[in-house]
Amino acid sequence: MKAVYVTRYGGPDVLQIQDAPIPEPGPDQVLVRVRCIGLNFADIVGRFGAYPGTPKPPYIPGLEFSGDVVRIGPKVTKFSGRERIMGYSKLGSHAEYVLVNQYYATLIPEKMTYEEGASFLVSMLSAYHGLVRLANLRTGERLLVHAAAGGVGLACLQIGRHLNAEVFATAGTDEKTEVARSFGAHHVINYTASAFEKEVERLTGGYGVDVVMDSVGGEVFKKSWHLLAPMGRYLMLGVSSMTTADGSLSRSMIADAYEQMKPIFPPSLIHTNKGIFGFNLGLITGRERYFEQAATELLTWYNLGVIRPLVGKVFPFDQIVEAHRYLQNRHSIGKVVVSVPTSG
Ligand SMILES: NC(=O)c1ccc[n+]([C@@H]2O[C@H](COP(=O)([O-])OP(=O)(O)OC[C@H]3O[C@@H](n4cnc5c(N)ncnc54)[C@H](OP(=O)(O)O)[C@@H]3O)[C@@H](O)[C@H]2O)c1
Repeated sequence: MKAVYVTRYGGPDVLQIQDAPIPEPGPDQVLVRVRCIGLNFADIVGRFGAYPGTPKPPYIPGLEFSGDVVRIGPKVTKFSGRERIMGYSKLGSHAEYVLVNQYYATLIPEKMTYEEGASFLVSMLSAYHGLVRLANLRTGERLLVHAAAGGVGLACLQIGRHLNAEVFATAGTDEKTEVARSFGAHHVINYTASAFEKEVERLTGGYGVDVVMDSVGGEVFKKSWHLLAPMGRYLMLGVSSMTTADGSLSRSMIADAYEQMKPIFPPSLIHTNKGIFGFNLGLITGRERYFEQAATELLTWYNLGVIRPLVGKVFPFDQIVEAHRYLQNRHSIGKVVVSVPTSG
């Protein structure tokens, strides 16, 4: 098969398409002919070697995919061998075939395309886990979502709106804020045109917000932490700010981002009545019941028209380098998908 390898840690150019053996499914695994690869910012951070647990190169990256089951391991009960599925593979989806544990894959609804299937699970599960399970977002609460026009961001806007929160969204261009508005944000802020923290203070009459979904970190963390009202919950799920404007990643950027987020002193959480959660969806492995329950609820919402993924741009497989660059350089709106040819 053809597979994309990270040949060494670095920028998009370290990616190379090479021949690789088609893997054999283990007892609980399913072999899938990949139709679409869903790109995630974690693929970028991992490619730089900065994501915890990233293997040493050469390795095949890729957290998620959609495709067709072609073979199943002897203990697989969830699939029979012909279904259209989407799944969370943790690694390996940048290829014509990928292995996935049966418990971290699910059927694609009939009306959902392969492109949408590859755009669904990681973003939706992240938003669900943060807002529903951790923050327990309630009716009337104020939710602030950063990088709101991205994959996870748009998922948060839709779930926040569904849970009857008042949703504040920040993004880096007017085009992105307009998409955020159309996906449910009540208030949108282009942070390059005005200081988001002042805007949120103004819009809330100084109250601030009850829940923050922050995947940017660094200075954005510092400002947003001050916006969190008493009894507020802060969700920290990524530090995109450790990459530079041209999409490179350097030690000094990481150090800067971390400096801005100096460890929070736990007793101060008592006095300020605030809480903070970190989470890493990668650790969902080993929680198959949780995956099943969350995916079922999310698919119910999808079927009811409450949530949908936005496929922002589709690249062909041989343009994988361009696809990574596009996401890394913050051009994307919604999800970036790479389509894998099925013939040949
Ligand atoms: N912990 C978890 O389990 C988990 C799961 C999924 C995702 N994540 C994290 O959530 C974040 C969003 O992931 P995603 O895949 O949905 O990506 P995404 O939001 O679609 O794309 C990244 C966006 O982040 C914003 N951004 C802000 N500062 C940036 C910088 N210095 N460099 C690049 N982008 C920057 C940009 O939007 P603007 O132009 O609007 O600023 C950019 O478009 C990432 O940090 C990712 O690692 C974490």
